[in-house]
Amino acid sequence: MLRDKSSRIKGGLLLSQNTLHCPIFKFSNQQIIKPKPLLSSQSMDTVVSGIRSTGNLHLGNYFGAVKNFIRMQEINNCFFFIADYHSLTTHPDASLLKKNVRQVLAEYLACGLDPEKSTIYVQSDIPETAELYLLLNMHAYLGELERATTFKEKARKHPDNINAGLLTYPVLMAADILIHKASKVPVGKDQEQHLEMTRQFGNRFNRMYNVNFFPEPVAYNFGEQLVKIPGLDGTGKMGKSEGEGNAIFLADKQDILKKKIMRSVSDSGPTEANSAKPESIKNLFTLLSVVSKSETFNFFEEAYNNCSIRYGDLKKQLAEDMEIFVAPIRTKIEEIAADDQYLNKALEMGKEKAHTSSSKTVKEVRELMGIQYR
Ligand code: TYM
Repeated sequence: MLRDKSSRIKGGLLLSQNTLHCPIFKFSNQQIIKPKPLLSSQSMDTVVSGIRSTGNLHLGNYFGAVKNFIRMQEINNCFFFIADYHSLTTHPDASLLKKNVRQVLAEYLACGLDPEKSTIYVQSDIPETAELYLLLNMHAYLGELERATTFKEKARKHPDNINAGLLTYPVLMAADILIHKASKVPVGKDQEQHLEMTRQFGNRFNRMYNVNFFPEPVAYNFGEQLVKIPGLDGTGKMGKSEGEGNAIFLADKQDILKKKIMRSVSDSGPTEANSAKPESIKNLFTLLSVVSKSETFNFFEEAYNNCSIRYGDLKKQLAEDMEIFVAPIRTKIEEIAADDQYLNKALEMGKEKAHTSSSKTVKEVRELMGIQYR
């Protein structure tokens, strides 16, 4: 395994300290071995997804994205990255970037992403993504970018920082996906529109250059509806920057978890049997549905329907079940975040594998666009 002290990796690949920074991995006798995927990537779907390095991962990131990453890496050719460039559109603080990138990486690995099965890398380690972004920008139009919901939301929330990176966020996202010619993109519900725009940019490129080069990637959740995990403040989705107490982080300690859940928004309870749930109560039930046993969920559902429910009891149970879910991940995060050598090795390995795929795509795109002058 990548983490054990001999640094042995499945598939006969050996990583040792002195080979770490080489563009191709070498054994000490100078025999050159290129990293091999475990299964033939030709027969597998290509999958791409990423998470911005804007802080710790929360329950929404886990159930909307990471949970599927872990399932998909068993059966697909997967690229999972840390979207550090995207984080600069809203979080430009240079002194926090390294810490945040390494934290997301540690959390990916703690959740079960395996650098031997997936290509795990940092967005800025692959300059070809930035090049493809630039080229796609030539065929992305102001009107469509201004209409994107996330752009409008962010511009409304931060009128003092409506930068060009924010406007062209969907183009960079399209470049992330198209650079590996992915067909499946595991994401939460909030990313649906960005996927639609990715298809639009890819199809436009195909039409303009009269080719069938980019596939049409879809937002993917194993045939189920895309997930939206609500926050604890009674409205909207769980988010990293939605305000104090809205999000449950995978790294949260038990006392913090409990405090957040006990303080979550609820009301005085139903007064009529079988009445519709207000949004804040629906949210608590959604959280129960992802971390508690079905018997627990059904117990509180029945109590709600016959008006005997006590939200204090529901929250206490939710806090206990949340701790059972989060505790093993939290322990792993702490262990992996302290293992600098492992994190560095994982980053180098991912960079190498991602580069092989991205450089091929950009070379072909340049040719198709006529950028070839010798
Ligand atoms: P980010 O960091 O905002 O979110 C990362 C992933 O977490 C999902 N997510 C949620 N899912 C369900 N419920 C929630 N409350 C919730 N909050 C977040 C998001 O849908 C996402 O899947 N733009 C992307 C990052 C990105 C990307 C890409 C993704 C950049 N390039 C290419 C896929 C492919 C984003 O939303 O990051």
